[in-house]
Amino acid sequence: STLPKISNEKCLTYAPGSSERKNVREEYDEQARQCPHIACVVNGKDVLTGTTMEQLIPHNHKKSICTFEALTPKLVEDAINGALKAKMSWENLPLDERAAVFLKAADLLATKYRAKINASVMHGQSKTVWQAEIDAAVETIDFWRFGAKFAKSVYQIQPTENDFGVWNRMEYRPLEGFVSAITPFNFLAIGANLPSTPVLMGNVALWKPAENSVHGAKIIYDVLTEAGLPEGVIQFLPGEGLPFAQTTLRSRDLAAVHFTGSTTVFDTLWNEVGKNLSHYKTYPRLVGETGGKNFHVVHETADVEHVVNSTIRGAFEFQGQKCSATSRMYVPKSLWPRIREGIAQKLPELKVGSPGEFDAFMGAVINRRAFDRVSGYIKRAKESPSCQVDGGAFDDSKGYFIEPTMITTTDPSYESMREEIFGPVLTVYVYEDDKFEETLELCDKSTAYALTGAVFARDRGVINHVLNKLRHTAGNIYINDKSTGSIVGQQPFGGSRKSGTNDKSGSANCYMRFCSPRSIKENF
Ligand code: NAD
Ligand code: ALA
Repeated sequence: STLPKISNEKCLTYAPGSSERKNVREEYDEQARQCPHIACVVNGKDVLTGTTMEQLIPHNHKKSICTFEALTPKLVEDAINGALKAKMSWENLPLDERAAVFLKAADLLATKYRAKINASVMHGQSKTVWQAEIDAAVETIDFWRFGAKFAKSVYQIQPTENDFGVWNRMEYRPLEGFVSAITPFNFLAIGANLPSTPVLMGNVALWKPAENSVHGAKIIYDVLTEAGLPEGVIQFLPGEGLPFAQTTLRSRDLAAVHFTGSTTVFDTLWNEVGKNLSHYKTYPRLVGETGGKNFHVVHETADVEHVVNSTIRGAFEFQGQKCSATSRMYVPKSLWPRIREGIAQKLPELKVGSPGEFDAFMGAVINRRAFDRVSGYIKRAKESPSCQVDGGAFDDSKGYFIEPTMITTTDPSYESMREEIFGPVLTVYVYEDDKFEETLELCDKSTAYALTGAVFARDRGVINHVLNKLRHTAGNIYINDKSTGSIVGQQPFGGSRKSGTNDKSGSANCYMRFCSPRSIKENF
């Protein structure tokens, strides 16, 4: 390979007194003093559309971190045309030249812009500095560096047989048309990765970041530009999802949708594509990662302390707003008193506050809608005869703060055992020790999702049995570890059923979706 050595970026510690803590603190304070106005960027030029939106700070919701111009359908059309022009030279560059842009962007983010990007998601998504570091810095860097390696490995898949006098080979063409990339608020790394993956394969993309992530997304976009990404290869189009989707999904040149977000929105995209099928030049690829209802299944042979610590991290880090967050748990009656005590005792110690104080375990949930949805689940559980609630206070006077909450239910089909809440709420069902088989059935059948899950047990036979029995219940399954925290290149990520198309970001599989191979046979 001609690539430089690629390995996972190390997380910095942000220990008190460290230089990285000082740098991010300075950036955080500087960003608190500013409120930049961010334009759309089409063909390398800032474009003002006349409609302004703002990105509020979740833990201080009377303030914004930025205002921005919102896309219009006309601008999206211009962006499609510009991107298709840019594609003519971009797709003809050798992979190494394209990869060099992303490798340089990764280095820039790892050094010059690390504090800036982390401070942005501390303000914008209310992440603690440690959650910011694993997402916005480390995972983005890993996606960009490993992307070069994944793309190369796809190109290397070649026919192995040639008859005498024949040379067979595969050419990995980019898709015909452009890619519509629509990204969520909760992981900036995913925002960076969704347009980057197709672009590294020689495609062009229109990128619509979530309304609650525009400040950080613009930093990512600027880093790519500084690293040498040519004008028009990624068009930056913040604003609302519907007009963006309607315009891109009705274009004859739509080659693919690369989406991460809720199941409901992905369903609307499939329907829209279905309606327009006869209009397209080619069948668009639909690649999407969506919601989850991720589980911890605990067996009577599990290590209790490990279950407690893993569950607290899986359920409550980043306010439970990870697609992979642990949100339901099945615990045997024999272990429940110790596990309950372990979790309930720690809940009051998990400080909820502003990430700028550097002492909080959790920040605020992303916006008013999330606050109302999550607090609604908590209120209903407090009133339900089948539930007992630990924690569960909430307060939106200054920011959208919700305490870590554990609901224990006697009803395995209770709403919070089935539905994605996307907040700091864990629901527990306690089963009789001799009902483990039935519990695995419940775990498999209770929800429509199949994203992540974990089994906690010391008995290898049990672990093997759970892996078989829950074969389709999670796209990422962990043995004696929390359901969150996949690492690029180590645990390719994605789920099936209503959790997405399972094309495994963080692996070569996903790169496969953004090329259209051509078989070439040559006679000598
Ligand atoms: P969301 O679905 O509300 O928004 C995602 C994106 O879709 C945003 O850019 C939004 O503007 C856009 N959008 C909204 N309505 C649209 C419409 N009608 N047409 C087209 N686009 C539209 O999701 P979110 O709140 O940003 O993120 C949280 C969700 O994302 C959760 O369900 C979570 O599980 C999921 N998620 C999944 C993964 C994964 O890998 N499986 C990763 C991160 C987040
Ligand atoms: N990488 C993220 C996690 O697994 C999605 O939590």
